[in-house]
This record gives sequence, C-alpha cells and structure tokens, in this order.
Amino acid sequence: MSIERLDPLKTADAEQVADLHFQYLNDSPIVRFGSSFLRRFFYRTLVRDGLVGVSFHRHEGRIIGFISYTTEPFGFMGKGGRRHPFALAWSLLSGIVQRPGTAKEIVQIMRVMRERTEEDTESRDTGEVISLVVDSDYRGFVPAGGETRLAVRLFEDAVEFFAAQKVGRVHLLVRPENLASNIFCSSMGAEFGKMEYGGETVHRYTYTIPQAAPAIEASS
Ligand SMILES: CC(C)(COP(=O)(O)OP(=O)(O)OC[C@H]1O[C@@H](n2cnc3c(N)ncnc32)[C@H](O)[C@@H]1OP(=O)(O)O)[C@@H](O)C(=O)NCCC(=O)NCCS
Repeated sequence: MSIERLDPLKTADAEQVADLHFQYLNDSPIVRFGSSFLRRFFYRTLVRDGLVGVSFHRHEGRIIGFISYTTEPFGFMGKGGRRHPFALAWSLLSGIVQRPGTAKEIVQIMRVMRERTEEDTESRDTGEVISLVVDSDYRGFVPAGGETRLAVRLFEDAVEFFAAQKVGRVHLLVRPENLASNIFCSSMGAEFGKMEYGGETVHRYTYTIPQAAPAIEASS
C-alpha cells in the first residue's frame, strides 16, 4: 500500500514519525512539550484514542513522510488530558526534568490551547492538519500507484479521512516565513486567511473537502 495509517501499537513506526517531526518541525508547540510527550502521548495515546490520525509513506523500509490531523482541533488535547491525566502529567514532567526551562513555555502553550477551545466551539465540522513533513531527500518523489508527489498524496489521504468523517473543511496553520508550506497550501486550493495564535500572526488556510456526488437513485 502506498499510504498507510499509523497503528499506535507499532511503536517503531510511531518512533519514526516522531523522529521526522523532531527533525523538520523542531520549533512547533508540541515539540516544546518535550520528547516524551511527542513520542508517548501525542503519537501513541492520542492516536490510539482516535483524537489524532497519522498517514505516512514508507520507502525501502523507512518512513519518509507523514501527515497528522484531527477532527477535533479545539478539543483533542483537552479530551486526551481528561482521559489520561496521569499519562499526560508523566510525559510533561519528563520533558520538564530533561529541560527545566520549558515549564513556563508549557503553561503558555496550554493557555493558548484553552483559549482556542473557548473561541471556536461552534466549528463542529472543521478539522485541522496538525503537521505535514516530507524528508528533504524525497520532496519531488512520486510514490508508486499515483501521479502526484508525496506531500500531495499524503494530503489527499487526509482529505479522504476527513470526507469519511463528514468533515466539511480543514484548517492548516502555517507560519508566514514557511514559504514551502504556504506554497503547498495555496497550490492545494486552500483559501488564505490570518489569525492570532499565541501572540503571533499565523496564516490560516481553509481547505473545503469536496463532497462526494450524491448517489443516483435507481430508476424504477
Ligand atoms: C511542507 C512540505 C511538506 C511541502 O513539500 P513539497 O510541496 O512536496 O515540496 P517543497 O518543499 O520542495 O516545495 C514545493 C515547491 O515550493 C517552492 N519552494 C519551496 N521552498 C521554497 C523557498 N524557500 N523559496 C522559493 N521557493 C520555494 C519550490 O518551487 C518547490 O517546487 P520545485 O522545487 O519542485 O519547483 C515540505 O516542504 C516539508 O516537509 N517541510 C518541512 C516541514 C514543514 O515545514 N511542514 C509544514 C508545517 S506543518
């Protein structure tokens, strides 16, 4: 299969996805929560609970790109924390022990996430792409069984997931300086917007999930 969905019980796969995340998105908020949070809580507990989904592509035995997404952009962290308070606390504490300076940052990020929960509770049919990474050696790579490059194939798989969940639109939050990502979102036909996120202005792209054509009723 060209694009696979992450099985959180396959620890080696979850680790490889987390490694790619660390390598290419080292400045993302969830990385600041620490390695234990990302590896154990985010890519295993939240995926196992269905609060985060991950699609990836494996090439010659190695994962070379992935996309992560959620149907609950404003609630996945809160829900995960309420369901697994000790696992969350443990993973965050491990991060703080490794890098004591991160405690203040973690509190700030938590506050931003809570603000988003309060601000957007009406967006019931909106999903979010959380991260998209393709190993830099494979950016132009076209996986077997398709005609488009890997980033597009991963995005299409996430869109398939969202369509099956009856999600109508998807947000992608992108830093203004991330040119490749801004170009990618525009080339996918996502609508451009801006929003404030944790005191920073970020680009918020909105992709509308194409609706499946209604089934033609059989004529009698
Ligand atoms: C975001 C990402 C998945 C997009 O992948 P992609 O669209 O397949 O491939 P590229 O990054 O090569 O960018 C596509 C095109 O954008 C243009 N582009 C990318 N970076 C550019 C730059 N710094 N300056 C000018 N043009 C740029 C190029 O034209 C490139 O196409 P070409 O080289 O084939 O002509 C990939 O860049 C990535 O993994 N980045 C690191 C992680 C990341 O930032 N993810 C997004 C935030 S979650």
